[in-house]
Amino acid sequence: MDTYHKSVLLQEVLSFLKVEGGKKYIDATLGGGGHTKKILELGGEVLSIDVDQDAIDYVRSKIKDLGRLTLVRGNFKDIGEIARLHGFEKVAGILFDLGVSSHQLDTASRGFSFQKEGPLDMRMDKNLSLKAADLINVLTKGELYELYRRLGEERHARAIASAVVSARQIKPIATTTELAKIVQLGAPKKFSNINQATKVFQALRIAVNDELNSLEVTLPKSLDLLEKEGRLVVISFHSLEDRIVKNAFRFFSNAKKGKIITKKPITPNWEEIKKNKRSRSARMRVFEKL
Ligand SMILES: C[S@@+](CC[C@H](N)C(=O)[O-])C[C@H]1O[C@@H](n2cnc3c(N)ncnc32)[C@H](O)[C@@H]1O
Repeated sequence: MDTYHKSVLLQEVLSFLKVEGGKKYIDATLGGGGHTKKILELGGEVLSIDVDQDAIDYVRSKIKDLGRLTLVRGNFKDIGEIARLHGFEKVAGILFDLGVSSHQLDTASRGFSFQKEGPLDMRMDKNLSLKAADLINVLTKGELYELYRRLGEERHARAIASAVVSARQIKPIATTTELAKIVQLGAPKKFSNINQATKVFQALRIAVNDELNSLEVTLPKSLDLLEKEGRLVVISFHSLEDRIVKNAFRFFSNAKKGKIITKKPITPNWEEIKKNKRSRSARMRVFEKL
């Protein structure tokens, strides 16, 4: 399952989830199914959700015995409804491993990567009607500036927004590499490096998939699904996500709903980062329900 996506913090997830045979778990971000597979191997019963049909199809083709596994294509913002529909209304643990999978990033036609030529798409859910190209070509300069600043935390948001608006007056921006070049030309020269495109692509991806809103909505719903001493484990990959998780856990704790298990986020060790560069920005937080 490594070819689809290399799971991050695998052992840490299993131990913080305290996986036990016969108990129920929800993997809210199935991806290549690495975490799900390990929970199954330890005897857990798993409801696994992904908004991307590719993930569901891949795992269905890899896991022959689906006995203790329920696969659902859906958005985790609807976790309450999905869980109730499949008999997972009280569970021992829920995992969120946020962001995109390597499969999504590496498939040029999905349009997530500025290093691969592809259409500016970036939808995790292929049923969504709005693509990244729609945002890039339709938003006003002011709206693009806000997008890059707020969702990309980009210092040169204004210069990049101007470059995008000038470029699209000649012809609509259609591909990932076209956009990456425009961003690099638009950013002040001495800052013009690969990271510039990273932040702009991050901002677009978050907007297209409404990622921050989905995360905010799902955390309280997930807490409701946990049984006593059940655990919520969330792995995030950038500060905007991590802030939402940190604030939600603090709010739950102040409301006496349970306790924060990780005072500081858990991060991958050097061994893991050496083997899997994409793990380097992972931060895991854990909350236990009272
Ligand atoms: C980092 S990958 C998960 C990798 C997985 N834990 C593994 O070990 O292979 C994140 C997955 O979450 C999915 N995803 C992101 N946002 C989602 C949402 N709101 N609802 C459901 N799935 C989502 C993505 O489509 C992607 O497949």
